[in-house]
Amino acid sequence: MNDPVYKTDALIAEDIDAYLDQHQHKTMLRFITCGSVDDGKSTLIGRLLYDSKMIFEDQLAALESDSKKVGTQGQEIDFALLVDGLSAEREQGITIDVAYRFFATEKRKFIVADTPGHEQYTRNMVTGASTADLAVILIDARKGVLTQTRRHSYLAHLVGIRNIVLAINKMDLVGYDQAAFDAIVADYRAFAEQIGITEFVAVPLSGLKGDNITTRSDATPWYRGPVLLEHLEGVEIGDDHKLGQPFRMPVQWVSRPNLDFRGFCGQVASGSIRPGDAVTVLPGGKSSTVARILTMDGDLDEAHAGQSVTLTLADEIDCSRGQVIAAADAVPEVADQFEATIVWMADEPMLPGRPYLMKLGAASATLSVTSEKYQVNVNTMAHEPGKTLELNGIAVCNISTDRPLAFDPYAENPDMGGFILIDRLTNSTVGAGMIHFALRRSHNIPWQAIEVNREAHAELKSQKPRVVWLTGLSGSGKSTIANLVEKKLHAMGRHTFLLDGDNVRHGLNRDLGFAEADRVENIRRVGEVAKLMADAGLIVLTAFISPFRSERRMVRQMLPEGEFVEVFVDAPLEVAESRDQKGLYRQARAGTLTNFTGIDSPYEVPQAPEIHIDTTRLSAEDAADRIIQVISGLE
Ligand code: ADX
Repeated sequence: MNDPVYKTDALIAEDIDAYLDQHQHKTMLRFITCGSVDDGKSTLIGRLLYDSKMIFEDQLAALESDSKKVGTQGQEIDFALLVDGLSAEREQGITIDVAYRFFATEKRKFIVADTPGHEQYTRNMVTGASTADLAVILIDARKGVLTQTRRHSYLAHLVGIRNIVLAINKMDLVGYDQAAFDAIVADYRAFAEQIGITEFVAVPLSGLKGDNITTRSDATPWYRGPVLLEHLEGVEIGDDHKLGQPFRMPVQWVSRPNLDFRGFCGQVASGSIRPGDAVTVLPGGKSSTVARILTMDGDLDEAHAGQSVTLTLADEIDCSRGQVIAAADAVPEVADQFEATIVWMADEPMLPGRPYLMKLGAASATLSVTSEKYQVNVNTMAHEPGKTLELNGIAVCNISTDRPLAFDPYAENPDMGGFILIDRLTNSTVGAGMIHFALRRSHNIPWQAIEVNREAHAELKSQKPRVVWLTGLSGSGKSTIANLVEKKLHAMGRHTFLLDGDNVRHGLNRDLGFAEADRVENIRRVGEVAKLMADAGLIVLTAFISPFRSERRMVRQMLPEGEFVEVFVDAPLEVAESRDQKGLYRQARAGTLTNFTGIDSPYEVPQAPEIHIDTTRLSAEDAADRIIQVISGLE
């Protein structure tokens, strides 16, 4: 019985504790498989699991929880059945983003993230790849290197995977032809070099027939390299490089069971730390020394990359969730503007200026893209101009955040420079990014302390500043109502200013059209202007369609609580269209005017406006009185 698998089985049968102990001390390889829909990924994974006598995660859990009940684990799982199971899961895979499977051989434990090859593959790949040590890129020997192969490789490299295996599958269908294999390898090498992949291992195999997966195939006598499993078992991995880097620990939460104890909990991202070491908390910059390193199993003399610990510091300094505790002599940079690569994963395109929720380590911030430098065409590697970013798109952008963040470039420390983007309204992950560096400008523009502040401005005018934000379809009556409100407030001795869509678009925003990205930018600028005017103590009225919730919310958040008053000027489309004072609806219906709100461009109805004006019931005059009544009541 020199087959390693049977030895394992025998050990499980004889001495389950010894088996579990041996199992625990094996290294773990995390890898992803990427391929297009018909590359035979399921078959390949099935073959790996089957031939290496996989141990399912739940079975392992059963083993660990009740070792006595369990006999041998040499499962006789029908191969075809297993593959069917994987495919069935795959078909429902729209909801399962990434399927993780666990298996083990005598040498190593494995977690494979199977990333479905359907439309949303970028998201799945990036999710699976961010923790992977190795990527198996599948190629159908009949098809060779495809766009998807290039995109997968680019993404794998981008997220920092340095071990690439090219699994050239379905060799049986090309007669195990060496020339076919060599041609694909040469083709791939030419591409790989362009993107900086200097090394990869190519294996000719057949998932269906089992060639060169766990055992060497007689059909490819010309192939001298390792078989797939042999390579997976032997490839060098490890977090060793992280140990040599400066100490970083993003604070996940602060534990304060009583007034005398404050512990900072998190996972060490890089380097190591000992009690007595000097540390700095960023952003903020306060320094102290480490007092204790606590774990569930007691105090430690040293903690290093990968360990989850609680640190206590010698001094009472400010440190909260999202901040980073770092080695005092090698601190990360702090900035609020960066250059980064962004990979887009959502059906809705990325729009510059739109706020997204960013998660970087344990920190959260609001991020927006200030400008897109170029998009990467994965076929040609050409840099192409672009403004927005579509599903699966990759672009290098300048980004800005609403607060300073401590970071390291992704290339140096992925935990400190990799982030995800979340849509604030749907809560889904829409993008991932990697910080290259901080933009100089973010260091060079400090806030100027202003002595006559907003309170002083408002006080002199004896009023509370407000931004009364009217939103609604074209022709709903926003401008008419806003005008009336302004006239009335003016007569009451209030200091006001009216910003109106049509007018602003003649000046400040004359460079903008009506595509979604332009509307986002329109509202962003108007929001900034309205905020400045509110700082000046004015009651600002705005009349813009402002069709998107996201940007209305952004403006709300720019202002102090209670200062933003959203007024939904609600007119049904038929009513707005029947008025059609400017004749624009007619043109839109005729198709001579495109991107018209309500016709071929969306309007997102406010969900909780401060004031809802039903224009079918209320006259403009009454609507204006109602608005004044509400804003007066707010004072
Ligand atoms: S917003 O969507 O970006 O908020 P904004 O309020 O500034 O729009 O401008 C809307 C005004 O521009 C409309 O009242 C209308 O007079 C004019 N307009 C011209 N083309 C369009 C269009 N395609 N969609 C909507 N409004 C348009």
